[in-house]
Amino acid sequence: MGVMVSGNLNSFPPFGETVFCRRLTLAGAKHNLKVYVFTAEAVPEDGTIFEGYQYSRGKWLSVTFPVPDIIYDRVNYHDPCQLQTIRQRLTRITEDGHHFQYLARGLSGKWNVYQSLRRAEIFRPYLPKTTKYKNSRQLARWLLHHDHEVFLKPHSGTHGKMTLHVRLADDDHHMMLIGRDNNNVLFHKHFHEWETGAAWIERFMGERAFIIQPYLQLTNANGRPFDVRVLMQKNESGRWGLTGMAVRLGEQDSVTSNLHGGGTAVEAGRFMNLEFGETAASLIFGTIRRLSAEIPEYLESCFGRLAELGIDFGVDRKGRVWIIEVNSKPGRSAFFQIGDPRSARKSVENPVMYARYLWLRQLRRVNS
Ligand SMILES: Nc1ncnc2c1ncn2[C@@H]1O[C@H](COP(=O)(O)OP(=O)(O)O)[C@@H](O)[C@H]1O
Ligand SMILES: [Mg+2]
Repeated sequence: MGVMVSGNLNSFPPFGETVFCRRLTLAGAKHNLKVYVFTAEAVPEDGTIFEGYQYSRGKWLSVTFPVPDIIYDRVNYHDPCQLQTIRQRLTRITEDGHHFQYLARGLSGKWNVYQSLRRAEIFRPYLPKTTKYKNSRQLARWLLHHDHEVFLKPHSGTHGKMTLHVRLADDDHHMMLIGRDNNNVLFHKHFHEWETGAAWIERFMGERAFIIQPYLQLTNANGRPFDVRVLMQKNESGRWGLTGMAVRLGEQDSVTSNLHGGGTAVEAGRFMNLEFGETAASLIFGTIRRLSAEIPEYLESCFGRLAELGIDFGVDRKGRVWIIEVNSKPGRSAFFQIGDPRSARKSVENPVMYARYLWLRQLRRVNS
């Protein structure tokens, strides 16, 4: 299996997610699957020799290797051109007769996922009203119709970066913004005039596509934002299951609960029982489990084969459950943080086991 990752020249080895890649290699060794790592930039333009890395005897080695049988894509494409270039290079390799399979197809951004989920009756009650940001007149209308508060986030954002809570106060004479910038740093802004504030928001968004949602109170009793992260994965027989669940809790007034924005992971059951009481918490978990079981196969019917999904559920002050986001390249550090060794181990082993399943299925096809 070749794990395709984003490059990071500031670290050694020069790519992201080194800890996860090391764990994948060790899980691979346990289950008889060799794991190589390569950066998206290293996909050969010509020929079929990959340059990448292999974790062996406690260290990373630079190695070359042939076209992997399975490619596990963990790259965060911020730029659609990059995605296209890499996919084209990989397609050329297949056209040259070197067969490989993607472990999964990815999902294509928040707005597309939202529109797909919206089409299914069962998900509709749990989806916050959402639309694409067009202009400041539309923003003004949304504020008017949603209690003077809205939430803006990039269509293809991650880690809670570039999120913005917009609020009008004092009979709409003040615009208050709390958000996170491109480096995930929290900021506050305050404008006396609508025009100045609206222009600032437009500059903040730049050329990127954003979506608007009502601002939901996804906070606990102390005003700390939290969400429930569920990891759904395919296993060794290609079937979906729930690997684990954790609550991610941000600091007070920090807008987001993402671990990359300073949030901490806590055990979900205990947290929800304390916040909502056991009866309400068990109803909330019932809804979350039911939705989590339905979402993967439904999204596969829209986007093609998937292998794992991290689903972010928001729970508002009334205990209402909201589907906030579905990630096709989920992290798993929450399970390592909360000390849930079984979920943590399974979260790494499942992609390895599913890769083996796909590979064996392919072998049987070729031989029959
Ligand atoms: N409509 C909303 N109202 C209030 N908070 C929200 C809303 N949508 C998202 N958030 C907060 O922002 C965080 C990041 O949003 P999310 O959609 O998961 O994007 P990302 O891809 O950046 O993780 C969520 O985990 C939640 O804490
Ligand atoms: Mg998220």
